[in-house]
Amino acid sequence: MDSAQIESYLSTPSVFQLEVFDEIDSTNSYLSRECKQRLLPEWLVVAAEHQSAGRGRYQRRWESPAGCALLFSLLLRPKIEVRFLNLINLFSAYCLAAYLEKISRERDQFPLTVGLKWPNDLWVDGRKLCGILLEAGFSGHELQHVILGIGLNVNQVEEDFPPQLREHAVSLHQLSGRSWDRAQLLGGFLDYYYQQYAHFFPYNYQPIVAMYEKKVLFRNQPVAIRIQEQTVRGIFSGLTPEGYLILRENGRERQITAGDVLGY
Ligand code: BTN
Repeated sequence: MDSAQIESYLSTPSVFQLEVFDEIDSTNSYLSRECKQRLLPEWLVVAAEHQSAGRGRYQRRWESPAGCALLFSLLLRPKIEVRFLNLINLFSAYCLAAYLEKISRERDQFPLTVGLKWPNDLWVDGRKLCGILLEAGFSGHELQHVILGIGLNVNQVEEDFPPQLREHAVSLHQLSGRSWDRAQLLGGFLDYYYQQYAHFFPYNYQPIVAMYEKKVLFRNQPVAIRIQEQTVRGIFSGLTPEGYLILRENGRERQITAGDVLGY
């Protein structure tokens, strides 16, 4: 996969700058380092065939064999109040899920239904298809940039996942029975994301929570949520306008700003 291939699938190529690496430590780490060195343009996209130190949420590792997954980070400079930053998380997960469902129906007639596991995992039939790592950079209290890192399982077959992940992870190839052109997938998604983003940000982001709630998993169900070393339980009763999870326990409601929803 190279920049020219990705560009050939973009209807708005002038918006994006693309950098594609065969090997990198982590596309998120690269962008975060480069942001400290030079002024980077919004909509810069860094993709890699392989990451030697891919990162997930909570300092977990994110590993994929070379050339199978879509591993990329996108630099955004949203003009929103910091307290609504989590909506970029929810919006991005929603948008990727909606895009994958759309192309699976249009091109493949294979009816993919993607669920969202709060805040930003994409799940299909109880297995993880994609993870998102959003990292924000500040100057004092002012938001400077957001790095949206996406790891989407595309062409992995079962043996490409480590044994302990095989029951918990899934790829588009496994779901559809065919391999996917990753440049086409990335180009198509960037176009779609750019259009949707322009619609919702910076002025019209209130509808995001309601859209997201339609695809979120475990809503109105008992959940366990891991927050650092602690696990809390309750009913996942909805989301706040900032996109935080509302957990109802013994008639009391509590807002969860970050954590792992485990189901029950
Ligand atoms: C998670 O589910 O914990 C988030 C995983 C995010 C992985 C992607 S791969 C591209 C980008 N670079 C990284 O190091 N991480 C993100």
